[in-house]
Formats: sequence, structure tokens, C-alpha cells
Amino acid sequence: MNIPIKSDKEIDLMRASGKILGEILLEASEFVKDGMTTYDVEMFIRKLLKKNNVKSPFLGYKNYPAVSCISVNEVIVHGIPSDRVIKNGDIVSIDLGVIHRGYITDAARTITVGKVSDEALKLVEITRKSFFEGARMAVEGNHLYDISFMIQKTVEANNFSLVRDFVSHGVGRSLHEEPFFQNFGKMGTGPILKKGMCVAIEPMVNQGSYRVRILDDGWTAVTADGKLSAHYENTVLVLKDRFEILTENYKKEF
Ligand code: MF3
Ligand code: CO
Repeated sequence: MNIPIKSDKEIDLMRASGKILGEILLEASEFVKDGMTTYDVEMFIRKLLKKNNVKSPFLGYKNYPAVSCISVNEVIVHGIPSDRVIKNGDIVSIDLGVIHRGYITDAARTITVGKVSDEALKLVEITRKSFFEGARMAVEGNHLYDISFMIQKTVEANNFSLVRDFVSHGVGRSLHEEPFFQNFGKMGTGPILKKGMCVAIEPMVNQGSYRVRILDDGWTAVTADGKLSAHYENTVLVLKDRFEILTENYKKEF
């Protein structure tokens, strides 16, 4: 594997890109309300991208038709914004990327709309937690699949299942670059992490079976059993003795 290492100058551009994305993602999350369509959310995000003077790396990627992926309930990832109406009790994943001065960051959140079931809330919380348990390993000297191991451990300890058909990935000059890595694996395996690597860590977690079905549009990935699925993603920078989340809005989210 030839994993890109970002220079200090590139790291600053990645930070600037991530900061914008973190803010847009938070604004978009707060915008989502019962009764809206997923396309309403897409249109709001298009305005935010414009206001922030950034472009989307999703639009046109392998002919993907939108700037966002909005994945409701049984939709795991790559939900194409449509006339689907968001309702009270739904869980909604918003996945976004931005290109800022040539540097791409990628992130996703699953939010709850109105009052959701206890099980749905737990799924959303464990998915988020699995991301953080994985991200903690993104420090120089650790192995790449230490991240995968920690994600899997967290998800399976809570009796949810980890989607196997999609991977986490490097990000920066391209939306998807090396390393590509599964969200499950063995501790102490995989390439050694180095300062300046940037990875989009993105566990997708199902309430029931991990099996996936792709709809006829060629994109929308749904759970084969129709049960719920959640997604959480941030672009993470590997440093010498710590990791840095580039796409989290620290001011408001913590
Ligand atoms: N975060 C997702 C991914 O890394 C979003 C990609 S959507 C696409 O796969 F349209 F760009 F494919
Ligand atoms: Co991604």
C-alpha cells in the first residue's frame, strides 16, 4: 500500500476543509425536521456549500447525482435525495464531503428525528461510540487494522452487526485514496500508521443482519432484512502521539 502522507502545509489545508465541513454538517443536522423530504435537505446543503465557497466531491462521482447522501432508517448508505418524507421516529444519516482549495474531507452523522425507539437510539449511540473507539487508535506507530478491531469490538459487544460491504478509506487529494480498510479486523495487523496520514473512518452498523441489498438505482444500500442501520464518519489525521478529528464541530458537539 502506498499511503499518502500530507505535509504540514497540506495538513493546514485539510484542517480548513474539515472545519467548513464540520460546520455545514452541524447546520444540516439541525435543519432536518419531521415532514421534510430528503431532497429538501439536499437543497439546504447546496446553499450551505455555496455560502462557504466549497464544492462537493460527491456530485458527479461515478455519476452520483447529488451533493449529499441522505439515508433514512433501513437505508445504510448512499441514499439519493428524493421525495421520501422524513417522519418523527426516523433515524437519518447525512453524509457529506467538501473540496476546499483542492483538499477533500468526508464526514457523516446519524441523527434522530423527534422521539425514536430506545433500540434506535442505542444503535445511533453505539455507532458513534464505535467510531471514537476506532479513531483513538489513529496514532503514529499503531497498525491500521487496530482501528478496525476496536470498531468491531464495540459494535459486536452491543449485539449489533457491522456492515461488511463498504470500507473506510484514505482521503485528501481524492475522495477515496489509500488506505482502503474494513471496519473489522485483527489487532496488530495492517500497515503502520504515520504522522500526516488522513483517513475517513466510517462504521456502518445494522440492528439486525449485516447483509446488504442495493436498489435498482445502483446506489441506495439497504439492510437485507429491512431493519435499521446507522452511520458515523469523520476525517481523522494521524499525529505522533495523538489523533485529530478534522470534521467535528468541537464548539457545539462537545
Ligand atoms: N462517505 C461516502 C463514501 O466515502 C460517500 C460517498 S458518496 C459518493 O463512500 F457519491 F460520492 F459516492
Ligand atoms: Co467516506
